[in-house]
Amino acid sequence: MRIEISDLHFTYPGEINALQGIDLTIEQGEKVAIVGQNGSGKTTLVKHFNALLLPTEGIVQVGDWDTRDHSVAELASRVGYVFQNPDEQLFNSDVKSELGFGPRNLGYESTRINSLVDDAIELTGLENYRDTNPYDLSPTWRKMVALGSIIALDSPIMIFDEPTTGQDAQSVAQIARIAGELHSRGKTLITISHDIDFCAENFDRIIAMSEGKILLDGPVLEVIAQEESLATTFVDPPQLTRLGKELGLPQTVNDQDSFLDAFRQHRRHQ
Ligand SMILES: Nc1ncnc2c1ncn2[C@@H]1O[C@H](COP(=O)(O)OP(=O)(O)OP(=O)(O)O)[C@@H](O)[C@H]1O
Ligand SMILES: [Mg+2]
Repeated sequence: MRIEISDLHFTYPGEINALQGIDLTIEQGEKVAIVGQNGSGKTTLVKHFNALLLPTEGIVQVGDWDTRDHSVAELASRVGYVFQNPDEQLFNSDVKSELGFGPRNLGYESTRINSLVDDAIELTGLENYRDTNPYDLSPTWRKMVALGSIIALDSPIMIFDEPTTGQDAQSVAQIARIAGELHSRGKTLITISHDIDFCAENFDRIIAMSEGKILLDGPVLEVIAQEESLATTFVDPPQLTRLGKELGLPQTVNDQDSFLDAFRQHRRHQ
């Protein structure tokens, strides 16, 4: 299901022009990361994908739906959105009810709901916490519950707003694994992240935003090579990319494997 946005402007009350002319197409199955300085409009942009916000000007199309013609509840069958702060999202008294809430609301039958909940619990590793109140869990696990409740919706498009913030290395690795699994199932994954290393290692396309506009949009290796442009929105290229450049490697690298390949090649030619 394609997301197609043309000339999107959005103004918050008080004349805050958070989005100033966004043109963007995201195809089904893409793995897209959105980066950019605080306040550049990332969250405002993705909240348009599921009609949490509606354009002040311009058009947001999700598949054949113009978001202005459909409710947030209807859009939930197409776009799942994991909030930046799980506390804005979670309200059920135990994990399995939280995960079952979305599919129940979409009117799915109980056997389908149960299998979606089981699958989301397995993917997120929440097996031991089925009956636990999400508010009794650590922030790390609460984030997993927020992720799980969107996975259980089984929507073709899934948005993760800052999934790795405040997570330890093990949990970041688990989120990367979950993203990989969802991608292999054909989902469109859109993440917002300040963690450029996570984006470069796990996503195929990067969109860099600055002051309500798209500054850069392209394949990972092309975008992370644009050091000067990225700096204008306070994004540094990934650590390995910078190290590779410093060492004079001929290609831009985005993860350990590509770094080692380029490094070996470079050494052979010296
Ligand atoms: N509810 C709101 N009311 C008024 N202004 C808002 C509101 N939410 C965001 N803004 C403003 O809109 C602009 C874009 O904010 P947005 O939250 O989309 O940025 P962001 O890129 O997600 O930032 P962050 O990295 O801090 O999450 C900022 O100037 C912000 O202050
Ligand atoms: Mg944000």
